[in-house]
Amino acid sequence: MKLFNLWFCLLGILVYEGFCMKVKYDGDQVLKMIPQTLKHAQFMQGLIQEWMLDLWKPVMVEQIQAGREMHVRVPFSHLQEIKEKLLQNMLPYQILISDVQELVNRNTPIETKMQKISLDNYDYTKYHPMDEIYDWMEQIQLKHRDLVTKHFMGSTYELRPIYYFKIGWPSDKPKKIIFMDCGIHAREWIAVAYCQWFVKEILSSHSNNKLLTNVLKQVDFYVVPVFNIDGYIYSWTTERLWRKNRSPHNNATCYGVDLNRNFNSSWCSVGASRDCNSQTFCGSAPASEPETQAVANLMERTKSQILFYLTIHSYGQYILLPYGSTTNPSVNHVEMTKVAEAAAAKMKEKHNIVYTVGSSSVVLYENSGSSCDWAGDIGIKFSYTFELRDNGTYGFQLPAELIKPTCEETMTAVISMMEYANEKYLENSAKTVTFMWLNVLLSCAVCMYYALLH
Ligand SMILES: *[C@@H]1O[C@H](CO)[C@@H](O)[C@H](O)[C@H]1NC(C)=O
Ligand SMILES: *[C@@H]1O[C@H](CO)[C@@H](O)[C@H](O)[C@H]1NC(C)=O
Ligand SMILES: *[C@@H]1O[C@H](CO)[C@@H](O)[C@H](O)[C@H]1NC(C)=O
Repeated sequence: MKLFNLWFCLLGILVYEGFCMKVKYDGDQVLKMIPQTLKHAQFMQGLIQEWMLDLWKPVMVEQIQAGREMHVRVPFSHLQEIKEKLLQNMLPYQILISDVQELVNRNTPIETKMQKISLDNYDYTKYHPMDEIYDWMEQIQLKHRDLVTKHFMGSTYELRPIYYFKIGWPSDKPKKIIFMDCGIHAREWIAVAYCQWFVKEILSSHSNNKLLTNVLKQVDFYVVPVFNIDGYIYSWTTERLWRKNRSPHNNATCYGVDLNRNFNSSWCSVGASRDCNSQTFCGSAPASEPETQAVANLMERTKSQILFYLTIHSYGQYILLPYGSTTNPSVNHVEMTKVAEAAAAKMKEKHNIVYTVGSSSVVLYENSGSSCDWAGDIGIKFSYTFELRDNGTYGFQLPAELIKPTCEETMTAVISMMEYANEKYLENSAKTVTFMWLNVLLSCAVCMYYALLH
């Protein structure tokens, strides 16, 4: 089998196949456990540090707590020993993923070297590598010139262009913005799939959808389909479970900054690490990374217009709002919670999947320097982090069959937010009609008054 794989890799036929990646997870398992006592929690922290295990939930060792579910990937080589230690310490565990590599292989499409993609048969229920997404973006803007423009936002550390779409009808009046980015963390492929799904849905349904017709006149959607492009590519070619960007540190002895800890909001104060080996390395300074700067600059420039900031992640099934760094609620907390709860209710209605609403520091864990907190800091009224499916069954390797239902339910959430925006923050046609009738009635009353007087 190994030799067979190697041959295909060398021939470059299956360039995207999971088993061509340099880092393998053969036989690795993801275990779930809930430490019941402080002692158990501390034992798990020690175990993870000692064996340098890859913690999936929560992301930081310090965040392991009694009573809270945790997920950890254990390499095949340590599996038996670790399981024995867990049993000795009477810490029951459950196997969430019995062979990580097997899942990686299953979910990385086998493809021959890319041909030009065609929009007509672009498959939104598959994961796409970056070159296909670049090509897709190009074709979307060509096909929908009237409604969509593609803009350069900055370059990645490895000098790849980062683009965003602006989707909306031209207008003389200043427009509001709904800002969405996907894939700030490389391995969260479902997020990247959602941005593409969102664009497709808007473009294919706006003409016979009253809400969208009205919204697109007054709102521009800014969509960044892949925020962390270098990391995303690396997760396709080399290490499926890569999270950060690819900037080198400490004389290139370690790589990558967690871009969602790199924003200038209580930077590196809690739930972030100054160690460049860590999954949550916050970088050398606030906004030290070119990717962070690109997005932050665009948001800073347009902040007075941005009504919603939505950043799409996985996994865990949450709609999170500021703040991660403090349990103090933001000024708009009550309204933001109400809107998110309505959205989560719609999601549940769609496929019966529960999404939990709350600020990260309350319902999940503390973190600092996230884009969601920063958006709150610069005064954006509604700022949300979506953690899409699932709850750990497949973790970061959500099977492609689940792209469709996940995107469908997420779409209902975003539409529900748009409905709220339309009701409360936009001129909508229903309001205009009511206003017109009130005017007519008022003029009639005035006429009659004068008629009666004279
Ligand atoms: C970085 O590594 C190179 C090659 O190993 C070495 O020559 C250089 O002195 C190192 N620089 C620092 C600042 O450690
Ligand atoms: C970070 O934000 C503070 C204000 O909160 C500002 O003074 C500082 O210049 C910002 N730094 C960067 C790198 O943007
Ligand atoms: C995930 O949720 C499903 C139902 O929604 C449940 O059956 C399953 O046990 C949950 N898995 C984990 C790891 O919590």
